[in-house]
Amino acid sequence: MVTSEHAGRATARAGANFALVKYWGKADARLNVPAVGSISITLDALFTETEVVVDPGLASDELTLDGKRRDEDLAKISACVDLLRRKAGVDTRVRVASRNNFPTGAGLASSASGFAALVRAAEGALGLTLSARERSIIARQGSGSAARSIFGGFVEMHAGSLPDGSDSFAEPLLESSEWPLEVVIAVTAKGEKEVGSRSGMARSASSSPYYAAWVAGQPPDLAAARAAIRARDFEALADIAEHNCLKMHAAALAALPPLVYWNGATVECLHAVRRLRAGGVPVFFTIDAGPQLKAVCAPGARGQVERMLSTVPGVLEVLTSALGPGAELR
Ligand code: PMV
Repeated sequence: MVTSEHAGRATARAGANFALVKYWGKADARLNVPAVGSISITLDALFTETEVVVDPGLASDELTLDGKRRDEDLAKISACVDLLRRKAGVDTRVRVASRNNFPTGAGLASSASGFAALVRAAEGALGLTLSARERSIIARQGSGSAARSIFGGFVEMHAGSLPDGSDSFAEPLLESSEWPLEVVIAVTAKGEKEVGSRSGMARSASSSPYYAAWVAGQPPDLAAARAAIRARDFEALADIAEHNCLKMHAAALAALPPLVYWNGATVECLHAVRRLRAGGVPVFFTIDAGPQLKAVCAPGARGQVERMLSTVPGVLEVLTSALGPGAELR
């Protein structure tokens, strides 16, 4: 444990990420260990920036998100900072000020970038120096996908099998510069989603007849995606990512009550991407636990994909991003 000059106050930035092979389901809800591994890409244009200030005068932690107090999220934030306080051997309370440069809680991975930025900033503010793996393990306990936003580019999350969750962490597969794919996001709704991923996963696991098949199918999908990324084989990655996304949604749709994360515009965007791809444009889609459609494309195709998704009725906004770095101190 090394005391850093940043002790007392630190600011970190972490990019959102989304999965090409999805995390959906938990093996251990308390330690937040996923039931399946996942593979994601980290973005540079959608990020969370978080400042953590250690303040001995505070009786309890404080949290603002985009300038507003968020007492309803404080328990999860405090539990995550507790893991770092324990490592630092202190009990001092902290003030956390977090900002997203994109809509919060609408299926754009704000929890991923949020917890990754929190862990990095709290580590700095508490004077700790952790390995990237330790950061990933701590971020996982805040939000499963946050374990991946610790790293940039292409990232694999290992589900692990140890009961204490110590082998459940993410690792980089490829730097963003090694395969600079780009992303176009069609925003089709702006409010916070109705059913968050935590309860959506629990409901799928307990009631979907397809959940067991989803979990069983994950190792071959991970192997196929890993091989496609290593070979920079866009078509192979496109096939496996679309297949895996639709399997996750099939498991969710078959839950009781059903989990329908899509709206009409989501489905129209899916067809638009499929038409482009059938016409030879290197692009594929993925959709998380929300109504936004994420299109991943080879660098030259971004303009065409952006223009096409902008014309789909019901699309409110189109965001674009390159792949980006992992969580960093500012
Ligand atoms: O990390 P969570 O609890 O927000 O769950 C993420 C779930 C999905 O976004 C649907 C899939 C994924 O792998 O990111």
